[in-house]
Amino acid sequence: MIFLDANASTPIRAEVLDAMLPWLRDGYANPSGSHSEAKRARAAIENARAQVAAFLGALPEEIVFTGGGTESVNTALRSLDGNSGAGHGLISAIEHSAALRCAETLQREVIMVPVNAGGRIEMDRFAEGLEGAAFVSIMTANNETGVIQPIREIAAMAKALGLPVHTDAVQAVGKIPFDARGLGVDLASVSAHKFHGPKGVGALFVRCGTAFSPMLLGGGQESGRRSGTENTAGIVGMGAAAAAMGRLLESGSATQLAALRDAFESKVLEEVSGVTVNGDLRHRLPNTSHLSFDGCEAAGLLILLDEAGIACSAGSSCMSGKHRPSHVQVAMGIDETRARSSLRFGFSTLNTMGEAYAAAVMVKRAVEKLRRVQGSGVGPVQVYCT
Ligand SMILES: Cc1ncc(COP(=O)(O)O)c(C=O)c1O
Repeated sequence: MIFLDANASTPIRAEVLDAMLPWLRDGYANPSGSHSEAKRARAAIENARAQVAAFLGALPEEIVFTGGGTESVNTALRSLDGNSGAGHGLISAIEHSAALRCAETLQREVIMVPVNAGGRIEMDRFAEGLEGAAFVSIMTANNETGVIQPIREIAAMAKALGLPVHTDAVQAVGKIPFDARGLGVDLASVSAHKFHGPKGVGALFVRCGTAFSPMLLGGGQESGRRSGTENTAGIVGMGAAAAAMGRLLESGSATQLAALRDAFESKVLEEVSGVTVNGDLRHRLPNTSHLSFDGCEAAGLLILLDEAGIACSAGSSCMSGKHRPSHVQVAMGIDETRARSSLRFGFSTLNTMGEAYAAAVMVKRAVEKLRRVQGSGVGPVQVYCT
C-alpha cells in the first residue's frame, strides 16, 4: 500500500513507537502519585512537554496536553468565548469541523471571513470583521487543500486591537516550521497523529498571561488546565514525534516533501489531461496535492486507486452515501462537478520518490479506466459510504 493520506493521519515513526512501548507495558503508574514509579511517569511527561515546547517555539509551561486536535480546538474556542469582552468571534469559512461545530454552540455570534478562489483569507474582509470582534480563530493551514493562511499578519492586526488569537495549527505542525510565540498567537492547537505520533493525544499552546478556562474539570491535572489522568505513553510518543520532526524540519524535510509532491503532481499533469490543481500554489503545505479530474467521480477513482494499492482521500466530504462539495470547496467557489471529481493526496516524510512516481502511474490508469467506463454509458458510478 502506498499511503498518500497524511493529512488524515500519519504512520507512527519507529523511534516514536520505541519511546512509547515501555510506558504501555510497564509505566502504568498514575503520574499524579507520590511513589517513585509515579514520579518516573511524571518526569517522562515533563520531558515530553519540553520536547513539544521546543518544537512549537513555546515555553514548557505554555503546553497543555489534551486528547487530540478536536479537544484542543474546542478548549481554545470555549475559553476565548468565556474570557473575552463583548463582541463577535471571528473565524474563517474554511475551518475544520472541530472549530465550525464548536463555534455554533458558543454564547456569542461568530462571523466567518470568506476566502478567495485560492482558498486564502480575504484580508480586506478580515479587517472589516475585526470591527466589533472579541477574538479571532483562524487555521494555519487547511486540511483539504493545504493552503496556508497569513497567520503572522492576522495575529498582528488582531493584537493591534488587543484581541486574543487562536490558530488551529493541526495540519501545519510537522509539515512546515511553526513558531507559536514568533507568530504572535495566544493559543494554538496541535495533534500528534498528524506528525507521526500516536492518535488521541494533542496539545494546546497557551501563551503565558492568556486568560484561560479549562473545558474539562476534575482532578486538576495539567496545572488545572485539563483534568484527567495523563496518557503517559501517548504524551511520551508526542514528545518523541516532536523531537524527531524538529530534527527532520531542520534538515530540510519540508523541501523533501515538496520534491515528492511536486514530482507526483508534475507527472500526473504531464500524463493526464483535464486535471486542475486546487488551492493557491504559492501558499501550500509542501505535502498536499488537491486535484480535480474532469469527467471522473472521485468516489469511483477512490475505489480504483484503493484496488491499485493507493490510499488517498476524496477532496469532498462523504455524507449520506453521496460525495458533496465540502464547505472548503464551496467557500473557494469550486463548482459542484469539479468538487465531486477531486482527490486529496498527502505525502509524509516516510514516502519515497519511487512511491510518488508509482502513484502517478496508478492515477493515470485509474482516470483512463473511469473515463472509459463513464464514457461508455455504464455510469454514473454509485458508491455508498459508511
Ligand atoms: C485542521 C484540523 N483541525 C483539527 C483536526 C482534529 O484533530 P484530531 O483528529 O486530533 O481530533 C484535524 C484533523 O483532521 C484537522 O485537520
